[in-house]
Amino acid sequence: MPFEIRSYQEPDISSVVDIWERCGLVVPQNDPHKDIELKAHFQPELFLIAQLDWQIVGTVMAGYEGHRGWLNYLAVDPEYQRKGYGRLLVEAAENRMKELGCPKVNLQIRGQDKQALAFYRAIGYVTEDRIGMGKRMEQPEE
Ligand SMILES: CC(C)(COP(=O)(O)OP(=O)(O)OC[C@H]1O[C@@H](n2cnc3c(N)ncnc32)[C@H](O)[C@@H]1OP(=O)(O)O)[C@@H](O)C(=O)NCCC(=O)NCCS
Repeated sequence: MPFEIRSYQEPDISSVVDIWERCGLVVPQNDPHKDIELKAHFQPELFLIAQLDWQIVGTVMAGYEGHRGWLNYLAVDPEYQRKGYGRLLVEAAENRMKELGCPKVNLQIRGQDKQALAFYRAIGYVTEDRIGMGKRMEQPEE
């Protein structure tokens, strides 16, 4: 099996969380297992896995809420970065959301993550004059 981008399947979970951890995407306020469980019930087909031979090399969790498409958890295994997989993952997510009628994709970058900024700029994204805001809808677990 060469390279493919496919939807997430349950047996992928440990490899996916491992890549997220090694890419610095796991932060105390987000439980990756819980995030995956939630996604399994909402547009699971937009949670994409890049697989090279039998190895998972990247992920992107996309979603379209009827107005904008969103990208989260974009990660490429550090050993496979700068080989074009990140670009392919984003293109695959964009294409799947375009098929659903999505006219625009948004995403958030933490702080001043210059590498993520450089990557997204290189693949055609532009910074927009917005302030990102958020509100937790649940209490943190004890
Ligand atoms: C961001 C990330 C997904 C990019 O994946 P990737 O497979 O390495 O990216 P690509 O090889 O498709 O890069 C496409 C282009 O983006 C630009 N780019 C990618 N990474 C870059 C970096 N670290 N610095 C500067 N430019 C970069 C380059 O122009 C690159 O083309 P080139 O390699 O021909 O010069 C990967 O670095 C990663 O997983 N980072 C950690 C997690 C992360 O930051 N996720 C995004 C959260 S918002």
